[in-house]
Amino acid sequence: MTELCHVNDLEEGQSLGFDLPDNPVFAVRKDDQIYVYKNSCPHLHTALEFMENQFLDMDGALIECSTHGALFEIETGHCLVGPCQGEYLTPVGFEVRDDKIVILEDA
Ligand code: FES
Repeated sequence: MTELCHVNDLEEGQSLGFDLPDNPVFAVRKDDQIYVYKNSCPHLHTALEFMENQFLDMDGALIECSTHGALFEIETGHCLVGPCQGEYLTPVGFEVRDDKIVILEDA
């Protein structure tokens, strides 16, 4: 299991990236729910962020790929608009343990 961060490090409406060896992931908090996905766009498998820890669009409403602007639902990873429309980000299994976000071994 790999610890990402303390839950309070991930603020409401914000995203954080984690460059784990061979497994870059990012986490988003929305409406006090946490979501973790692999940092890989289903279009060309590039990293998504515009700048460090910037995975969301201007409104913070959707996840946005910086390469071609695909937009994904935060809750499901479903691509709503863009070249990979209809595809999904890959969710990463995690749990909150002692107030830490921990990804599970088989994630
Ligand atoms: S690589 Fe993400 S939309 Fe093209």
